Amino acid sequence: MIDRFVGRITRQVRALALPIAAVLIGGLVADRAAAAKPEVFGKTKDGQVVHRFTLQNRKGVVARLITRGATLTELHVPDKRGKTADVVLGFDTVAGYESKDNQYFGCTVGRVCNRIAKGRFTLNGKTYQLALNDGPNHLHGGVERSWDKVVWKGRYVKTKHGPGVRFEYTSPDGEEGYPGTVRATVVYALNDENELRIDFMAETDAPTPVNMTNHSYFNLQGAGAPTVLDHVLTIDADYYTPTDETLIPTGEIAPVDGTPLDFRKPHRIGERIESLIKSPSLGYDHNFVLNGQPGNLRFAARLHDPRSGRTLEVLTTQPGLQFYSGNFLFGQKGKGGKTYAKHSAVCLETQHFPDSPNHPEFPSIILKPGQRYHEVCVYRFRAE
Ligand code: GLA
Repeated sequence: MIDRFVGRITRQVRALALPIAAVLIGGLVADRAAAAKPEVFGKTKDGQVVHRFTLQNRKGVVARLITRGATLTELHVPDKRGKTADVVLGFDTVAGYESKDNQYFGCTVGRVCNRIAKGRFTLNGKTYQLALNDGPNHLHGGVERSWDKVVWKGRYVKTKHGPGVRFEYTSPDGEEGYPGTVRATVVYALNDENELRIDFMAETDAPTPVNMTNHSYFNLQGAGAPTVLDHVLTIDADYYTPTDETLIPTGEIAPVDGTPLDFRKPHRIGERIESLIKSPSLGYDHNFVLNGQPGNLRFAARLHDPRSGRTLEVLTTQPGLQFYSGNFLFGQKGKGGKTYAKHSAVCLETQHFPDSPNHPEFPSIILKPGQRYHEVCVYRFRAE
């Protein structure tokens, strides 16, 4: 009787032991990951150390991130045969990222991504003048201290969405001409569903515009492959925001129907690009008004490379998507000495509409004290 009882208890303990051990070891591994130290990637010109973090999942996806610009530097993804390639543009050194060759590769753009007309906006009766770094306009947060250029604090973290890296940066009042001190946070997390999720968060102590995005350049055959014009793109948008010749929205919300911007059904990027190459945008460089409810994480775009079979799906909470076809790439040398030719990569930048502070009819990007900015972008990969 006692023997039987002891036997039963032993079996139960044994049955429980494995899962308990698994949870404990899992916890330890996760804690270890959270406590792990990043490596040193290099130093900025002014002597700041730039750290590098690595995220890896069970399906062979590897993401690398650095503290300069909270930047995604590498993203290795399997093709239909299981062979991995690094599908984002970047550089091997900090000097590369600091050079003129860097056109916002992989970085976090802020405080306000995209353009502000004449670098000017008015908030609560006061007019602010920002740097003009894109012809007559302000682009991607400024010149010296835009968020792609500063060194963020970074650490490994556990998240609901898998192991991650959390970057933080406090942008002081007046930096690059913007009002208010903003505490910005970007968390990248990689799960075993091959989703790299990016959460963008911010808080401010005075009203200020905030519009953050990730500026990764993708070529699904691998960074350095000669063109992206053979990739097939779908964008879930019925409307776009037409612009003037300096790429500032006119304010109109126009249907994509009957234009080369209609990607509601899949099209090769090169199929209808010719007329746009002759236009002021020199190719695709347009803001799409995404269908569905902003604030909800929803499908935005799908990029497919028939040769490798790799597919990237972009999901977002944001109202807009800037589709940019690498029109200003000029053959600069990137990682491993590879050449980045014109139209050899695309950006699918989830964001609020360009020049929003000057368009009251667009969804507002003004963040006020007490409010919490939180937007999400997911890059999800598969191969078929
Ligand atoms: C964005 C802009 C482009 C260009 C790139 C960076 O996508 O819309 O016009 O400035 O960034 O080169």
